[in-house]
Amino acid sequence: MKQQRPGVLLTRRLFPEVLQRLSAHFEVRDNPDDAVWTPAELIERLQGQWGVLATQGERIDATVLAACPQLRVVANMAVGFNNLDLEALARHGVQASNTPDVLTESTADFGMALLLATARRISEGEHYLRAGRWHKWSADLLLGAEVHHSTLGILGMGRIGQAIARRAAHGFAMQVLYHNRNPLDAATERACAARYVSKAELLRQADHLLLVLPYTSANHHTIAAAELAQMKPSATLVNLARGGIVDERALAHALRSGQLAAAGLDVFEGEPQVRPELLELPNVVLTPHIASSTRGTRLGMALLAADNLIAYHQRGQLLTPVKHPAA
Ligand code: DGY
Repeated sequence: MKQQRPGVLLTRRLFPEVLQRLSAHFEVRDNPDDAVWTPAELIERLQGQWGVLATQGERIDATVLAACPQLRVVANMAVGFNNLDLEALARHGVQASNTPDVLTESTADFGMALLLATARRISEGEHYLRAGRWHKWSADLLLGAEVHHSTLGILGMGRIGQAIARRAAHGFAMQVLYHNRNPLDAATERACAARYVSKAELLRQADHLLLVLPYTSANHHTIAAAELAQMKPSATLVNLARGGIVDERALAHALRSGQLAAAGLDVFEGEPQVRPELLELPNVVLTPHIASSTRGTRLGMALLAADNLIAYHQRGQLLTPVKHPAA
């Protein structure tokens, strides 16, 4: 008798290559309409499934795990995994993987792009032109902030932070300062041409502050009114990490009052909803969580997630298990 293959659920629409690879090993249930499921709908679709290829948009918590006792593995198609309740996963004996490395370089490219767009007012300029407001060249039209030779502050110096530091230091001659839970070793610091400083010094010195740290309950609103008040009024803030790291209400206030020059945001606290105050401000560049979005990178992420499921099924070992942020 043919043995029943384990079931794997894809929570979102993915690439045909991913379906093809998984279908060789599993009974795959996908989401061709790319519908966003409620937690109850997710639980319903997870019934009887052995594995799930999830994205950062689905919360896999104690309620989901208790309702899906057959689930053994969660392959998260993201390097971030704040959508996973790690304690609950451990309690239920469910393994979890993420997708480090494959997205580092394209996310770093995007970080530089968002920084440049924000500091040099590129979106604002485009809106101005499209609105038919450009009637003459003017010496002081849409004056931006310098990027080259300025000081970049990076909060969170993991792989993506380091890749951005290399671009900034070697490509734009920026002075790179960073703050992290732990300083990097000297050789890595040298390769990134970056210097470790306290968080307070980072806030004070940065002409541009880039957030690329993993989001945990411990760093919720780690950039709030008090931190924004320590920054230069001419500074820009760029968030590539997770919306919850920044108190968006305080940020909107700082941007409106001139306490901060500009912000570039790829992630939002309540995404895909964006705070109306932010939508109304001209000095914010807003993008829909696309820092890793090139075809090659998103495909690489999805295939790595798929390969984690296959490796766990075949050998009982994940390729890239999530590492607890405190580890
Ligand atoms: C990540 O990999 O964590 C990204 O934010 C998902 O797009």
